[in-house]
Amino acid sequence: MKNCTVFAILMFALTNSFARAHSLGSVSGPEMDELRLIDRGDGSEPRMMKLKDAFQFSKTAHEAGRCAGFMDLTGQPRFTSPPPLEVESFKLNLEDRPLTQGLYLDSSIALLDASRVSETVKQLSSNRNRYYRSTYGVQAANWIADQFRGLARNRNDVKVELFTHSWEQPSVIATIAGQGPHRNEIVVIGGHEDSINQSAFGSREMMAPGADDNASGVATVLEIYRVILQSGFKPDRTLMFMTYAAEEVGLLGSQDIANRFRKEGKSVVAVMQLDMTTFPGSGNQIVFMTDNVSPELTKFSQKLMDTYVRIRWSTDRCGYACSDHASWNRAGYPAVMPFESTMSNYNKDIHTTRDLIGKLDFNHGLSFMKLGLAFMSELSMN
Ligand code: BES
Ligand code: ZN
Repeated sequence: MKNCTVFAILMFALTNSFARAHSLGSVSGPEMDELRLIDRGDGSEPRMMKLKDAFQFSKTAHEAGRCAGFMDLTGQPRFTSPPPLEVESFKLNLEDRPLTQGLYLDSSIALLDASRVSETVKQLSSNRNRYYRSTYGVQAANWIADQFRGLARNRNDVKVELFTHSWEQPSVIATIAGQGPHRNEIVVIGGHEDSINQSAFGSREMMAPGADDNASGVATVLEIYRVILQSGFKPDRTLMFMTYAAEEVGLLGSQDIANRFRKEGKSVVAVMQLDMTTFPGSGNQIVFMTDNVSPELTKFSQKLMDTYVRIRWSTDRCGYACSDHASWNRAGYPAVMPFESTMSNYNKDIHTTRDLIGKLDFNHGLSFMKLGLAFMSELSMN
């Protein structure tokens, strides 16, 4: 058993007794006392527990600088049949897929602007929080939708939608319609828009700037979208740019979306998750997570690194369903998760009032912009 797993089980036991013995300081939202079906990703069966206990479990672990988290499966379906045929065959052909967008990427990579990304992170992290049940969280989602719309003025092949959920904060989806015979196949890039402060569970007034986690990923998605539009790129497949609500409370927004797409039989052939892209905790490298992802799509993305990004990359494991790629993966769709550092060197200020822009390096973030742009353009053609 991995160290991390042993630790997670230990922490869970400690946490339960801790939560019983001490009242949790600033708990206030009614959602905190709801019983939910929680999968802690440590191999044990999902079980019913209060949301606040699930939080305490991951808080205690994060404070100790270790990995643990949970996926809230309440009300979510489990698919047993395989996904649409195109999804499987696309994945199997990835190995032999030639790279054809070199010329396009030479010119479009030059359009990526790290200072715009920094400006977006500044805006997003200046909200008091982006909590999934707060008015600030709703405002942030609307602000993101406005950015998507503003960048697509006078484009009739682009659609921007709010995807609503059973809580206040919507997810945002911008779609560039494909023009080729494969236009029913979808390539997705996304990251979560919500933020949280692990010391103030449930408070709608918590301070949670979430600059790295995950204004950085949202800003990167917006910049890739901007460059694809500005460069006049017309994809064969359909491109979707998503910012997910409610990741920090068990991947709720992305599960709603991935499971709805699956029910509707949509052919999502590839998904890139961007969650934390600008803190170079282990230097100038991109780290590919190897759990809850598609090995084929990960290998393909590593080829994009060698061809177009040309900085070092390595691999690591989250050890649990640490972000929205796990929702897509669970729904049967291929996902990849490039991350800013190794697990042992991740930004320890996330989920606190100290997750601020000053700690971030937008030159590091630029490598993720290049990778994402290469991913969206290569996978959408032919
Ligand atoms: N961005 C983090 C995930 C992360 C943190 C990955 C550190 C690698 C290193 C994400 O927003 C997060 O906080 N996830 C939760 C789990 C979630 C399912 C509730 C976590 O890690 O506690
Ligand atoms: Zn987080």
